Amino acid sequence: GTYIEAIDKAIAKNKEELEQFRLRFISRKGVLTELFEEFKKVPNEQKREIGGELNVLKQKAQEKFQELIDHVNGASMSDAGAQDLDVTLPPIVEEGSVHPLSKVKNRIIQIFERQGFSVKEGPEIEDDFHNFTALNFPENHPAREMQDTYFISKNPDVLLRTHTSNVQIRLMEQGKPPFRSIMPGRVFRNEAISARAHCFFNQVEGLYVDKDVSFKDLKQTLYHFAKELFGEDTQIRFRPSFFPFTEPSAEIDISCFICKGDGCKICKHTGWVEIGGSGMVDPNVLESCGIDPKEYSGFAFGMGIERITMLKYQIDDIRLFSENDLRFLKQF
Ligand code: PHE
Repeated sequence: GTYIEAIDKAIAKNKEELEQFRLRFISRKGVLTELFEEFKKVPNEQKREIGGELNVLKQKAQEKFQELIDHVNGASMSDAGAQDLDVTLPPIVEEGSVHPLSKVKNRIIQIFERQGFSVKEGPEIEDDFHNFTALNFPENHPAREMQDTYFISKNPDVLLRTHTSNVQIRLMEQGKPPFRSIMPGRVFRNEAISARAHCFFNQVEGLYVDKDVSFKDLKQTLYHFAKELFGEDTQIRFRPSFFPFTEPSAEIDISCFICKGDGCKICKHTGWVEIGGSGMVDPNVLESCGIDPKEYSGFAFGMGIERITMLKYQIDDIRLFSENDLRFLKQF
């Protein structure tokens, strides 16, 4: 009873008095601890009643303590306001900046949206069907093996997607052609981390499926993209390549917009830099999504957003994107 009264009456005008309250009631050497210690000696038939009272006391003490904290904090604020805080000063705001990857991703989206592409997303945790099988990967294709793919637990059917091509499949199996979308997102590969490679990075996939889509549509779309992103006089070049899900397949190069073909470190003196892969959607892929390849054709491409950002801003270490070093981020 007396303790309850003492708690009710307690006031704290400053931090010292607040601390006195804490020491007296709440701290490990305080009244409450002492009472709970004595409580152990209480005969069993009284435990219930006394225990209840003790808990009420404990709660009261804690509530009061919070009330006193709020009071003391409020008081010190208004004290400062009266003394040395000039509330008329303009605030010093440190502005954040948009992450370079977001910047480039947004620009890529803008360029493709103007060409009629919508933006789609898909899951980062994927099954074998959407990451591999539907994309025409043969059963024993090396890319399925452990060194490239992160599997979640021991179940080989649950994995982290190794590319954004899974979204192509999810898009096509859900709707009817025409499809014209880009699909940005994060992908994962079990690779050694270095200045040039990371175990996670971002890609942007593109897919266009309709009647009579041809390779020249692919070329024109990417040519326009390269000029918009890297400058009016940028050229593009296609090199024959292989992907299970496209036929024919081609690597996409752009002319080196830094040395303009005269040769530099960025393009290793070749005048060209690779920005991604592309090709005509393989008929098997269309079929596995229920689309008749005799009626429809399409092209697809995939590019690394880190890679494009590194080229555009001449960044030489991919790890900078995920280290959150303000000295780096502030430059964008
Ligand atoms: N998915 C391929 C990769 O990750 C890129 C690609 C996408 C190639 C679409 C062709 C068409 O390497």
